Parts: sequence; structure tokens; C-alpha cells
Amino acid sequence: MTYVVAEPCIGCKYTDCVSVCPVDAFREGANSLAIDPEICIDCDLCVPECPVEAIYPEDDLPEKWAEYLELNERLATAWPEITDQKDPLPDAETNKDVKDKRAMFDESPGG
Ligand code: SF4
Ligand code: F3S
Repeated sequence: MTYVVAEPCIGCKYTDCVSVCPVDAFREGANSLAIDPEICIDCDLCVPECPVEAIYPEDDLPEKWAEYLELNERLATAWPEITDQKDPLPDAETNKDVKDKRAMFDESPGG
């Protein structure tokens, strides 16, 4: 099992999740985060921290966001570690209400 950052994170990147992870499992992309499935210990601490409900246990990942399981796994090896909370993206308050953000997804590394 692992936990997965799904589509609501895109364009927001609030990063509240990062500060509670006991094993530093988060990785940073240009406009979203991913969780490294090799590191995550399924503690559930990050789920209530996310203001846009972007994080799910693998077994409860909504079907419409199923591809984010593979995306997290693949990009976690390409993106840098993020261990400290930082300011959200400038358009976070606008983007949090956008329903379909898949086309906004940026696979380039953040930092
Ligand atoms: Fe980190 Fe726990 Fe969230 Fe996994 S479930 S990413 S270990 S806070
Ligand atoms: Fe993204 Fe939510 Fe964390 S918006 S950065 S998963 S707090």
C-alpha cells in the first residue's frame, strides 16, 4: 500500500502535508507534489492536513484519478525531496476550485 497525491494538488501546492510526514516521503514537482511509495509508511497523518483533499490511501483513490498512482510512483524518482512547508502557488486560491486540472499537470521538477 501507499498514499497518493491526486489531481486537487495541481496548481495549489499548499504543502501543509509535508510538515507532518514522519519519513519525508514527499517529492516536489513544478505545480504539484508526489509521494514516494517506497518511503511512505501509510501513517495517514497527511490526509487531514491537505486543504483541498488531494491525498488518498491507494485503496481509496477515486477511480477518476486512478492514473495518479502510477504518476506518483514514476515522478517520485525524478522530483526532489521536499521536507519543509512553503508558500502555496500564487494562483492556489483560484485553482483550488477548478474541477478538471489534468491538462495543467506539469511533470517537470519543482524546488
Ligand atoms: Fe508521509 Fe504518512 Fe502521508 Fe505516507 S501517509 S506520505 S508516511 S504522512
Ligand atoms: Fe498538495 Fe495538499 Fe500537500 S495541495 S502540497 S497535497 S497539502
